[in-house]
Amino acid sequence: MNVIIVSNYESMSEEVAKIVTGQIANKPNSVLGLATGGSPVGVYKLLQESYSRGVDFSQLTTFNLDEYVGLGEDHPQSYRHYMEEHLFSKVNVKKENTHIPNGVVQDLQAECYRYEELIKRAGGIDLQLLGIGTNGHIGFNEPGTEFGSTTQVVDLAQSTIKDNARYFASLDEVPTQALSMGIKSIMQARNIVLMANGGSKAHAIFAAVKGPVTPDVPASVLQLHPSVTFVVDQAAGSKL
Ligand code: PGA
Repeated sequence: MNVIIVSNYESMSEEVAKIVTGQIANKPNSVLGLATGGSPVGVYKLLQESYSRGVDFSQLTTFNLDEYVGLGEDHPQSYRHYMEEHLFSKVNVKKENTHIPNGVVQDLQAECYRYEELIKRAGGIDLQLLGIGTNGHIGFNEPGTEFGSTTQVVDLAQSTIKDNARYFASLDEVPTQALSMGIKSIMQARNIVLMANGGSKAHAIFAAVKGPVTPDVPASVLQLHPSVTFVVDQAAGSKL
C-alpha cells in the first residue's frame, strides 16, 4: 500500500486527477470505477479542465460505486445527478458507457446481478476511485459487511445517514438504503486510489492503514490489495 500525504484538499485533488489522466493516457479505453460525495468533487473539476486541454474521455467506460434506493436521476441528490453535474455532462464520455446502479427499479436484487455482470462484461475495473466514510466504509459497505460481498442492497449506518444529511433538507429525507458494489467487487479492480481529507477522517484512515484487517473497518481490506494508493491531506493523515 502506497500512502501519499499532501498538504490540503487541492493537492489531494491534483494528485488523484494526475493518476486518472495517467490511466487514460496509458489506456484510452480504460474502465474507471467512480465515487461520489464531497471528496472527489475537486478531482472531477480538474478532469473537466483536462478535457478542455485535450484529454479524450470518449473511449472510457465508467462504473459508479453506489446509488441511493428510491432516488431517480432527476433527484438532485441521486448519484446519477451528481455525476452528470460534476463530470459526465462536462466531458465527452458517452452516456451509454456510464453505469450507475439504478435505485428506482422494482427488482433491486436483479439490478445488483445485472450490475455485477456488466462490470464483468466490460473486462473488470482498471482504476477504482474511493472515498472513505468516517466509520471506515468504502462504497456503502458499512462496518460488518462481508469481504466476499458483491453488488447488493445495503442498509445505511446511522452515522452515514447523519454524515450525508448535510446534502438533504432534513435527516428524514436521507434514504436509508442503497445499492452498492460489494467489497469483493471493489477488490477485483486492478488498481485502487482512496482519497480523504479533513480531521473527521483521521481515525478511519489510521484504522484502514495501520489497524487490523477486519470487516469492522471495511477499508482495512485494502491492505490485502496489490495496487492501492491512499492520497490523504495532512488532517486526514494526522494519526498515521
Ligand atoms: P465524502 O464521503 O467524500 O462526502 O466525505 C465519502 C464516503 O462516505 O465514502
